[in-house]
Amino acid sequence: MFELLSEPRKDPILSLSAAYKDDPRTNKLDLGIGVYRNNDGITPVMAAVKAAEQYLLENQPSKAYVGLAGDEIFNEAITHLLLAGTEAEHRAIALQTPGASGALRMLADLIRQTKPDTTVWISDPGYVNHRPIMEAAGLKVRSYPYFDPNTKTLNEAAMLAQFAQLGPDDILLLHGCCHNPTGVDLEFSHWQQIASMSQKQGFLPFIDIAYQGFGDGLEQDLKGLQHVVDQVEEVLITTSCSKNFGLYRERTGAAVLVAKDKQTASKARSRMFEIVRANYTMPPDHGSAIVAHILTTPELKQQWLQELNTMLTRIKGLRTSLRTQFQAKTGEDRFAFFEHHKGMFSVTGLSTEQINRLREEFGIYIVGDSRVNVAGMQEQAIPYLIDSFLAVGA
Ligand code: LMR
Repeated sequence: MFELLSEPRKDPILSLSAAYKDDPRTNKLDLGIGVYRNNDGITPVMAAVKAAEQYLLENQPSKAYVGLAGDEIFNEAITHLLLAGTEAEHRAIALQTPGASGALRMLADLIRQTKPDTTVWISDPGYVNHRPIMEAAGLKVRSYPYFDPNTKTLNEAAMLAQFAQLGPDDILLLHGCCHNPTGVDLEFSHWQQIASMSQKQGFLPFIDIAYQGFGDGLEQDLKGLQHVVDQVEEVLITTSCSKNFGLYRERTGAAVLVAKDKQTASKARSRMFEIVRANYTMPPDHGSAIVAHILTTPELKQQWLQELNTMLTRIKGLRTSLRTQFQAKTGEDRFAFFEHHKGMFSVTGLSTEQINRLREEFGIYIVGDSRVNVAGMQEQAIPYLIDSFLAVGA
């Protein structure tokens, strides 16, 4: 029967990682999948994570099942991390999920069960997995303009004009910070406009925040999100501990639902339990147990914050180096966008031909939409990167 299947659609990010692994060249550069690497090219296990793992090794009493909601200490801590100081924290519920992808699918299924005719609006360009996840849940997906490839900034007028058309049957999926793939974030004034448009027009904001702490800082990255949750009755949030806790393979994330009151939020949570049970029964525990222990142990939390800040400082430093070294080499400031963008990624505007040449001739791996993972670069590789970019006519 399986001969009936059509050819699979290749994931543009994961297929690139596989090709990179198979490349024997020693000077190859992986600027594909969103993974932070230090200057030795390593994605280290954070010291706070190691300490939490040590604690768990010595103190975890059992490996028996935890439950549909996952670790409730984690759920509470993650809600607090996102919503501390907002009034909305008291009308929010959270559910631990297998990564943020698991959270996106969970909320997509919930939307489909609540209001099957909903259209989810995603940014163009956007995270490569947003559309597949929403469509897999049976939802309609449309995209809104977001990025101006000429200026490598926000296409503000076109974006806001599209938002002005949205109504009660629409969900607006936004990136909380560190937009993937562009690196172009919304200004606080845009979040204010989105909140008041949502109040007037009735669309529901859905904020995916997978890179909290990689933009301007842990709290600063929440400014837009926290404004929206305090102004709007219902908001959906997905979050990930892959990047800011470096827990990639542990698949640690959460779905957060803010409703008009706690009772409505709890009802939604009960329906989410049904989705969990019919899907994976319960999420994996190890990553969430680590995060829960770090966030509830003041010294470990302090250590984690310091390590997160080191990563942020390094990413910002790489962005500045890219700009200044391109400037020194070309005498032009065409690459200033590297310094202006936020988070791990930047869309460079390279053509498909240039991207292919970089991979084939120089062993530099870049996603097909011209996204580069700045956070995965090493300072010493920047001159090679610049020479290669210029050699293909960037
Ligand atoms: C990325 O965009 O590279 C990461 O968020 C990994 C993923 O899940 O796609």
